[in-house]
Amino acid sequence: VIVLGAGGGVGLAAVQLATALGARVTAVASSDEKRSTAAQYGAVSLVNHTCGDARAALREAVPDGAHAVLDPVGGDLSEPALRSLRRGGRFVTIGYASGVIPRIPLNLVLVKGIHVLGFQFQDIGPDEFARNEAELRDLLASGTVRPHIGAVYPLDQAAAALQQVAEGRAVGKIVIDLRTPSDDRSTPAKP
Ligand SMILES: NC(=O)c1ccc[n+]([C@@H]2O[C@H](COP(=O)([O-])OP(=O)(O)OC[C@H]3O[C@@H](n4cnc5c(N)ncnc54)[C@H](OP(=O)(O)O)[C@@H]3O)[C@@H](O)[C@H]2O)c1
Repeated sequence: VIVLGAGGGVGLAAVQLATALGARVTAVASSDEKRSTAAQYGAVSLVNHTCGDARAALREAVPDGAHAVLDPVGGDLSEPALRSLRRGGRFVTIGYASGVIPRIPLNLVLVKGIHVLGFQFQDIGPDEFARNEAELRDLLASGTVRPHIGAVYPLDQAAAALQQVAEGRAVGKIVIDLRTPSDDRSTPAKP
């Protein structure tokens, strides 16, 4: 499985869940910190999409092509990732954190018999949602998956927390702690 935005909130969760399901995960992320965090949670192959040809880097990481791409980023990364699928692979579009909705040439989908799927939380029916939640609780309780908290901010620094997310600097999830004002905090907020 290739996970784009692998250091972000959706991406790191995807890295952990895919690993828990037995997949070999290739994590695509822009910084050393994001890639090393993805590795910490199970990614076995790491791709820096900011230096050069993403398609070539993905080909090297997954020479036989991936079974699935999970894409919460969009923009310029989507097409090289889709090209990195094997015949019959699945491309799952989840979000557009880059701010750009990609346009994919449909012949790429045709020639490899690729399945393009959209995923939205709100499309999951109540029965499947309950089943997913029960499975997630088990994975959390057993410690198999663990939400990664990249930084904690007190409420009076909420703007800085949002800024970190908006600039794509968040690693995993950012928490706003409502319990204590910034000057009482034992753990200083990480910028
Ligand atoms: N479909 C659904 O059910 C569902 C559920 C939750 C979230 N979402 C969507 O999924 C997307 C990702 O959410 P997230 O919580 O994972 O976000 P996030 O923690 O901010 O991660 C997004 C990643 O996208 C990359 N990116 C590239 N250009 C960016 C830019 N201009 N600004 C910010 N990030 C940029 C960054 O990775 P690099 O630094 O590695 O490039 C960043 O780590 C959002 O669009 C969100 O709305 C969809």
